[in-house]
Amino acid sequence: MPTTFSTISALRAALHPMRSHQRIALVPTMGNLHEGHIELVNIAKQYADIVVVSIFVNPTQFGVGEDFDSYPRTLDADVEKLAQAGADFVFAPEVAEMYPILPLATSVRAGDITAELCGRSRPTHFDGVGIVVSKLFNIVQPDVAVFGQKDYQQLAIIKQLVIDLSYPVHIISAPIIRAPDGLALSSRNQYLNTDERTRAPKLHATLQQLATELQNNAPLTKDNLVSAITQAAERLNEAGFEIDYLEVRTQALQPVFAEERSESDSDTDPKVLVILAAAWLGRARLLDNIVVTLH
Ligand code: PAJ
Repeated sequence: MPTTFSTISALRAALHPMRSHQRIALVPTMGNLHEGHIELVNIAKQYADIVVVSIFVNPTQFGVGEDFDSYPRTLDADVEKLAQAGADFVFAPEVAEMYPILPLATSVRAGDITAELCGRSRPTHFDGVGIVVSKLFNIVQPDVAVFGQKDYQQLAIIKQLVIDLSYPVHIISAPIIRAPDGLALSSRNQYLNTDERTRAPKLHATLQQLATELQNNAPLTKDNLVSAITQAAERLNEAGFEIDYLEVRTQALQPVFAEERSESDSDTDPKVLVILAAAWLGRARLLDNIVVTLH
């Protein structure tokens, strides 16, 4: 069984003697673990001697009226799964341990991208992610940290955070783990009723179809792109999804066409694109993305 810590000081004391001769990996999670999370642990084990998994439903990344209270909390089952996966330490603090005083006086803002894509409907979300990940990096001081590509924008923001704040942490990205029918695994999938669950894989299928259309349309024009996105959105609407966003961006999350891009990214070859979507199906806000290489 992994040792579970609920205080920062106890975790720091346990890690302290290990630092000089062992590599430490951190896998941040909000718990209710599934195969996607376990894959992050498997990857972490390849890069480090000690794997620390944090389980913390972080209040600062939830907006007013969002699912902070109802977010599934399953610590015992999570620790059981982490024992199977071979994690060494679990860090599961209470809110008061991480945030003795709320609201915080200090903020971490990772630039304009935090206001786009997921940030449009969740304007304070990435500030909360930025602060909690910064705190976790300071508490654990890992050599590596593993994040899933499922949350593509989050991963991009964390990579930027590491550069901007000079964290000595190597960020590793892990592939999206899906159910056999294509639905990306997520703790929020359990908000789906039986009927919604059968329709949910349509999100991934639609992104895949859009990816194929973009590949078949090369060289891609702005008109082709707009019409392919519009058709994909119609298919999702017909399947009962309420789209939050459906966008195609460069890997750096810039617009596909150069005139809309910032100076820093204008030289990037937009041959590798990312299709990103968030859509509601009943109570569940589903998130997915596909990286597509144009020929
Ligand atoms: P959570 O949603 O629990 O996800 C924890 C990590 O697991 C994230 O890096 C996420 O991208 C990854 N993940 C989730 N589902 C996945 C899947 N199907 N395949 C691969 N990876 C998957 O993301 C968060 O928590 C929080 O924002 C956190 C980073 C912990 C900060 O509070």
